[in-house]
Amino acid sequence: MKNIYGALCCGLALFTFGCATAPETEAPAPAEAPETPVVQEVQEVQPAPNSKASVTTKFFAKNKLGQTVMQYTLKGAGGVVMDVINYGGKVVRLYLPDKNGESKDCTLGFNDVAGYETVDPYFGSIIGRYGNRIANGLFVIDGVTYRLPTNNEPGGIPCCLHGGAAGWDTKIWNAQPFQNGDTVGVVFTTTSPDGDQGFPGKVEAKVTYTLTPENVWRIEYEAVPDKKTPINLTQHIYFNFNGEAEGTILDHELTLCCDKMTPVDAGLIPTGEITPVAGTPFDFTTPHKIGERVDTKGDKQLEYGNGYDHNFVLTNPSKNGELAQAAALYDEKSGRYMEVWTTEPGIQFYCGNFLTDKMVGKQGKAYQFRGGLALETQHYPDSPNQPNFPSTIVEPGQVYKTTTEYRFGTK
Ligand code: GAL
Repeated sequence: MKNIYGALCCGLALFTFGCATAPETEAPAPAEAPETPVVQEVQEVQPAPNSKASVTTKFFAKNKLGQTVMQYTLKGAGGVVMDVINYGGKVVRLYLPDKNGESKDCTLGFNDVAGYETVDPYFGSIIGRYGNRIANGLFVIDGVTYRLPTNNEPGGIPCCLHGGAAGWDTKIWNAQPFQNGDTVGVVFTTTSPDGDQGFPGKVEAKVTYTLTPENVWRIEYEAVPDKKTPINLTQHIYFNFNGEAEGTILDHELTLCCDKMTPVDAGLIPTGEITPVAGTPFDFTTPHKIGERVDTKGDKQLEYGNGYDHNFVLTNPSKNGELAQAAALYDEKSGRYMEVWTTEPGIQFYCGNFLTDKMVGKQGKAYQFRGGLALETQHYPDSPNQPNFPSTIVEPGQVYKTTTEYRFGTK
């Protein structure tokens, strides 16, 4: 696959960072983002002869504006099955075989759009334009201050989280399902207008989900802005290898191929430091059960996150656009196993510390504290305000392009 990530990084190294020397001016007030026109094109996909894989399309639900949301079922030739919808590109259900070949839905979500529209903590969603937090919803590009409406305030400290209150997780995307032999998928596209959630520039975005016969879910992100703007796209799927609403993820064994992390303050905003994990509860360079050290007394970082909710820095990040391994997750009981590979330099490990039993899932069972975990590949949080982090600024006309794979299996 052609990937220009390397070229992109080299280009970015030439840019100036947030703290420009030119006098600061205020960006115009954020425009109200006009609704993207929704064109419902139900495209049936021709099944490939002699393939166990298939893609089927059906009505999912109406959203609160009365717009139709469609569901695409990707049946992989290797046994993994996913239901995805064009509302936020959400993965609603993810059936993963266990070591005995029995499949169970292993992701958190809702059966209707209403759940996603009310209490949703970004279950299964595409996240854009900027995954993770931007401190105070403020950043400066070329001396112009941009003010993003804030939508989150951990520790009472406001920030813009996951692209704002009406981020890309709330959009109805155009969707084009496809099948090439044993490989199935959906291409999601959308246009984010200039001023959307306060961000500068119109962005044309494309996110491709591919499910391969090897049980790899590949996500390819592409975005082209028409003004200089920060972009940091990710996927916010929550995993629980015991099954949806089947207890916590504390017994899951996690490996993070990351020898450093970016510590945060009480607002979960990086302090700007990049610190070694060795000798701390954040050392997952060898496999550890998540529950083993998550409540370590006296650890300020765990206290701020109420558990793990931190960006980890890949020890050996992607070079020349090749995927690098970021993480592995294993559940001994079911034998379910997953690796995360990415072109991104960081990964947010969030162990579901904001989940509560106020959220009722697809089987009518309440979720629980730490009932799911997310492994969000990304650039580091708050990069537009952190001069020593890799830049997330994309130039007008430049193609932002990243790839992440969740590789499913059993052991
Ligand atoms: C995560 C973030 C958490 C929390 C969660 C959504 O990506 O790291 O702090 O905001 O999203 O509930």
